Amino acid sequence: MKKIKCYAPATVANVVCGYDVLGFAIENPGDEVVVSFNDSNKTVITKIEGDNGKLPLNTEKNVVGHVVNLFLQQIKSDQGVNIELYKKMPLNSGLGSSAASSVGALVAVNELFGNPLTRTELLPIAMEGERLASGNAHADNVAPSLLGGLVLIRSYEPLDVIKLPSEMDLFVVSVHPHVDVPTGEARKIIRQQVPLKKAVEQWGNVAGLVAGFCTNDTALIGRSMKDVIIEPIRSMLIPYFDEMKVTALAHHAIGFGISGSGPSVFALCKKEEEAHTIASALHQLLSERNIICESLVTRINNKGAVIL
Ligand code: HSE
Repeated sequence: MKKIKCYAPATVANVVCGYDVLGFAIENPGDEVVVSFNDSNKTVITKIEGDNGKLPLNTEKNVVGHVVNLFLQQIKSDQGVNIELYKKMPLNSGLGSSAASSVGALVAVNELFGNPLTRTELLPIAMEGERLASGNAHADNVAPSLLGGLVLIRSYEPLDVIKLPSEMDLFVVSVHPHVDVPTGEARKIIRQQVPLKKAVEQWGNVAGLVAGFCTNDTALIGRSMKDVIIEPIRSMLIPYFDEMKVTALAHHAIGFGISGSGPSVFALCKKEEEAHTIASALHQLLSERNIICESLVTRINNKGAVIL
């Protein structure tokens, strides 16, 4: 029986100042999804590993089943599909866990059917996975997981997504404190109105960040990794956020911030050695304060999801 396996990378959404409009993929972790045909005319999730029993096998309640059903509707097929999901990252961690699962399932099932849809056509379907997971169809995790690299969502209506022409080889430190911050909740606490002065600061930084990535200017990236709108509110949900930021910047991080909606935080670094030093320092800072955490060092992933 033909089986297709896809690896879909984790992602860092927002990249500090670009709430809902910027995100990049990282080399690891990433989810693996295996799909094959079945004879039942139904989508069946046959196996989930690595989720500590937390994810539902019901296809309508699990993003992988949901997006595969939407894919089948779009290509007008009533073929049954079996899905195996191998979670390689914690749920609700701020690493785009649901996005990696949706993208992995879609890229795998598209390959199984001979690639009837382009990656750009898969994107709106993957966004429906995000709607199911968090109540909102944001694209800043699914787009970089699908396309790789740093991706800009210039517009949602109509959808206009640009993979930025940047191949910067930066190191990424990711630290996941074990506190619960579901994306849906972390979206509800954000203020819906922004004073013009703050908006001006924020869009200056978004433009600066994009310019910095496109011209390999790490100093400009660092100056632009500032969020005057979302971070001041959301950082309250992350233990010792300010101390971690001071520590990361003191150890030469280019910039530091919340990964997606948190609770993970991330730092961008020029050198691998610096990244490891920052990962250890942040790990120690949290451990000494009795916060369990995991840390990792990885790189920006420029490929996005791949068939294995
Ligand atoms: N842009 C989304 C948010 C990303 O910040 O809520 C969630 O990972």
